[in-house]
Amino acid sequence: MDIKQAILDRRSIRSYQDRSVPRELIEELLELAVKAPSGKNRQPWRFLVLEGHKKDMLATIMADKVQYRKQKNLDIGSCEISIAAIQQASSVILVFNAFSKIEEDYNHYRLLTDTQSIGAAVQTMLLAAQNLGLGTLWMCDIFYSEGEICTWLECNDELIAGVAIGYPNQSLYPRPRKPWTEVTEWLR
Ligand SMILES: Cc1cc2nc3c(=O)[nH]c(=O)nc-3n(C[C@H](O)[C@H](O)[C@H](O)COP(=O)(O)O)c2cc1C
Repeated sequence: MDIKQAILDRRSIRSYQDRSVPRELIEELLELAVKAPSGKNRQPWRFLVLEGHKKDMLATIMADKVQYRKQKNLDIGSCEISIAAIQQASSVILVFNAFSKIEEDYNHYRLLTDTQSIGAAVQTMLLAAQNLGLGTLWMCDIFYSEGEICTWLECNDELIAGVAIGYPNQSLYPRPRKPWTEVTEWLR
């Protein structure tokens, strides 16, 4: 598959087959993700692969938080959709920023730069997965339970994103996008 096709075909997948993704494929995704560019080549990304019981635990922690927030009439975003995707997915990769919590002179621009770098790594992973016939879901609903997740995992790094990975089990829906002409200014 060429890169253009991978970009065109990639969609967020929220329903997965009951089939495990072999460890070698997850390793290949990670190997390609770390080829992403990063500001000053700082490579701020760190990855934690959750599978089996650990992945189920993530879903349970998020579900408990949803229950708590519902009782308090608080917003739950699309947590329930993300939790269902996590339950069905073969793996979830949590992505962290290794520097934001520990560097004393960490500032707004470093945060912007490192977050862009991590986004590049995540998108590289998504396209690599597409190329391997895998489906993915980039998730920020994890932030609703950030404290609980980080306490459970004893994280030293800042949680940035989650990526669910598995074999897709859904047909593609139309891709809603603004045309590039609507979102671009061109100055000469
Ligand atoms: C930074 C980011 C966070 C996202 N968080 C979630 C999420 O928590 N739950 C979810 O179901 N989808 C999430 N998505 C997926 C978006 O909803 C999806 O990319 C968007 O609707 C466009 O659809 P497409 O990916 O199929 O092109 C996220 C996407 C990005 C880039």
